[in-house]
Amino acid sequence: MAQADSLVINIAELITPPASAAPLHGQAMHQLTRVTNAALAIRDGRILAAADEPLVRAAYRADEVIDAGGRSVVPGFVDPHTHAVWAGERAGEFEQRIAGASYMEIMSAGGGILSTVQATRAADLDEIIAQTQPRLQRMLAHGTTTAEIKTGYGLDTDAERKQLDAIHLLDEDLPLDLIPTFLGAHAVPPEYRPDTDAYVDFVVEEMLPDLAYTVYTVELEDGRTYQRRAADFCDVFCERGVFDVAQTKRILQAAKTHGLGLKLHVDEFEPMGGTTLAVELGATSVDHLVRTGEEELRLLAASATVGVMLPGTPFGLGSHHFAPARTFIDAGGALALATDLNPGTSWCESMPMMMAIAARYMRMTPAECLTAATLNAAHAIGLGKQLGALATGYQADFLILDSDDYRDLTYRFGGNLVRDVYKRGVCAI
Ligand code: NIG
Ligand code: FE
Repeated sequence: MAQADSLVINIAELITPPASAAPLHGQAMHQLTRVTNAALAIRDGRILAAADEPLVRAAYRADEVIDAGGRSVVPGFVDPHTHAVWAGERAGEFEQRIAGASYMEIMSAGGGILSTVQATRAADLDEIIAQTQPRLQRMLAHGTTTAEIKTGYGLDTDAERKQLDAIHLLDEDLPLDLIPTFLGAHAVPPEYRPDTDAYVDFVVEEMLPDLAYTVYTVELEDGRTYQRRAADFCDVFCERGVFDVAQTKRILQAAKTHGLGLKLHVDEFEPMGGTTLAVELGATSVDHLVRTGEEELRLLAASATVGVMLPGTPFGLGSHHFAPARTFIDAGGALALATDLNPGTSWCESMPMMMAIAARYMRMTPAECLTAATLNAAHAIGLGKQLGALATGYQADFLILDSDDYRDLTYRFGGNLVRDVYKRGVCAI
């Protein structure tokens, strides 16, 4: 018998996408692995075995035994698109929108993203951390064990760096893992308006090289240290009135030469051709896709780029038009879901809420929703070989639900069915 650190027993159903070195496309998104009366064996924060309980018990012994109490166990959620680090709030704008103003109108008038930029520039690092931490705690409580976080509320070198500092410090402090993305091209800051090209020059010639050569030193519990780069990805808000396709391409090509992975915000309000650009550049993910046409969806479906859809955004804006998930999956696409957590369009920390909306308004099956919130979401941040599945070798990030049927994650909504959250085999909540 081999020694494990812990066993998780009495799992009514262990339900997970299969381990896969590539994101799951099309029909494969619906094919979950389901083991009833299951157990997990865990060592060094990784899964040794995920199988029938009698088999696992015959092969492994451990000092710690976690009793799942006849409940459902799923992989921890990965939220691959958030803007979780900011200062201030925009409840007043929310009221204006309810009264009929559009998101882009508010933004062109200098509000929207720019009002959060003002508040974030004015706040010091401690304030930003203090405001962000409770959001991350809520994400964790709703089952998110890894999240991507974008900058983009600084828009100058110091304030972007302050957001990155906050992400790295919070990553060290909290159990969930944070993956930083540089979104210096989220909006054109007031000091450059209306000269968008001059701001693009600044992003390409100054901010990107500066951040690309910044490293953070992380200290492990045993005192050893390692170095981590400031950001893993670069993202651009490619939309009419923000950055056009040519400007987006320029920024992302520069980011690529610095070795950053690529992400894009596209077609949130109008189709612009950003999806085709994402495929051309070999982006890791292309996100929003609310207005993407069929031809571009097919091009994306046939590529290795993950399409990330953000149901909280149309919902948060009170729109009835959701991203065409069914067309994309039926065309063979690899789809992930994310919250887009931000103060403007989608202040929601809950991945299950995204799954509940996606099932209803995007016609995704509960199984597709689970794949999109776990394994495919992990692939959308380049981590699908180690996160997002409960399989041998994967990180032991898992959730015990307050239910014995994972479909309740999409069926029931408004509460929190996540009972226990484990990160690297350790109880985080
Ligand atoms: O993804 N569209 C651009 N960025 C965010 C909104 C950010 C904000 O309004 O503060 C989004 O929806
Ligand atoms: Fe976003």
